[in-house]
Amino acid sequence: MANSFVLKGNIIYSVSLEELKEVVNGYIVVIDGKSEGVFTSLDEKYKALHLYDYKDALIVPGLIDLHIHAPQFGFRGMALDLELMEWLEKYTFPEEAKFSEIEYAEKAYSIFVDALRKSATTRLVVFASRHREATVLLMDKLERSGLISYVGKVNMDRLAPSPIKEESAEVSEKETRLWLDEIRGRYKNTKPILTPRFVPSVSDSLMGKLELIRDEYDLPVQSHLSENPNEIELVKELAPYSRFYGDAYNHFNLFGGNNNKCIMAHCVYSKEEEIALMAKNHVTVAHCPESNENLSSGLAPIRKFLDSSISVGLGSDIGAGTTESIFFALTEAIRVSKMYWRLVDDRYKPLSFKEAFFLATMGGGKFFGNVGSFMKGYDFDALVLSDENLPSPLELSPSERLERFCYLRGDEKGIKAKFVNGVKLF
Ligand code: GUN
Ligand code: FE
Repeated sequence: MANSFVLKGNIIYSVSLEELKEVVNGYIVVIDGKSEGVFTSLDEKYKALHLYDYKDALIVPGLIDLHIHAPQFGFRGMALDLELMEWLEKYTFPEEAKFSEIEYAEKAYSIFVDALRKSATTRLVVFASRHREATVLLMDKLERSGLISYVGKVNMDRLAPSPIKEESAEVSEKETRLWLDEIRGRYKNTKPILTPRFVPSVSDSLMGKLELIRDEYDLPVQSHLSENPNEIELVKELAPYSRFYGDAYNHFNLFGGNNNKCIMAHCVYSKEEEIALMAKNHVTVAHCPESNENLSSGLAPIRKFLDSSISVGLGSDIGAGTTESIFFALTEAIRVSKMYWRLVDDRYKPLSFKEAFFLATMGGGKFFGNVGSFMKGYDFDALVLSDENLPSPLELSPSERLERFCYLRGDEKGIKAKFVNGVKLF
């Protein structure tokens, strides 16, 4: 059978927020790209399958990046001295404007996709720029990479000067439809996602048009929510009909609900009413801790979301985040949750390592289906990790080795193999 094989090694995976399983010298059986389960010994009936023996290495599910801006990859690690609105105006919008030139997009997106292919990320949800041609180019490259992604051509018809913003709501709508028609049926692993940039960038008229497109093309939606105090004040002015930020999306039915899939990035300042609507509408939170530190945005109340049964995954938020490493994001999520507990509200206890690992795998994976674990029936996404470059005098269990690997940035040298949906990328 195609995509059927066995992996041997030290296997670690989440089964819930509370439980991380580990099996020393175990086997994962993969049939037709899906996990059959994890075993301590190999049943006779699987012995004919090809065996990848990874010996003492660690085997974990692939990591999920729920929020990353592909056109911002070029200026990551720079220009982080401002808050959100000024950062967008001074650095981000001018950089994204360059993607009107396809030669620049070709160069920048080659670098981006190459880095993501080598990274710990197996699936990602991506903001492109507002440019149709460059967005299709990015999708072509992502499809060839073997990664699985949702990609959005950004909609933005206000706030910035032309030609950074789109000319009008009508032009934005037309370009979006042309984009969706052009890519229809073109990819196996690369899907479109509707991407109104955020309320300040999208007029009411355009929001209304996007709702119709979402229904016509049956698309998920991604955007930004309650990231920064100045942004939130602006949304109050621009959407006087809204009771809170998320209500401005909900006004146009672009905030989940009715089985419409929706990811909102950041949610740093989400309060009770907003959290209740997110829970009711099954909105997924993309938590981007490093970005929230770099832009002085704040400390997101992740424990509150988890207590409200809201799905939470992690995002690198390149270029407000500096690295595509979701291993780094998961350690940042722990640190930020400790600061929240210490500085904001000590009723909300910090995330543990196993909880943060769940967010990086199953938390984000849920957006893609049965993804992010090795339980039977899950799509087989996996990383084989070597910590040979991080010697220790201690006798360590697999989960201790994994924790150390995350904190010591073992992924810079230690990703030895990567599988996405049952396909070995390297
Ligand atoms: N809000 C609107 N656009 C952006 C963006 O590009 N990055 C971040 N962090 N927040 C945004
Ligand atoms: Fe973002």
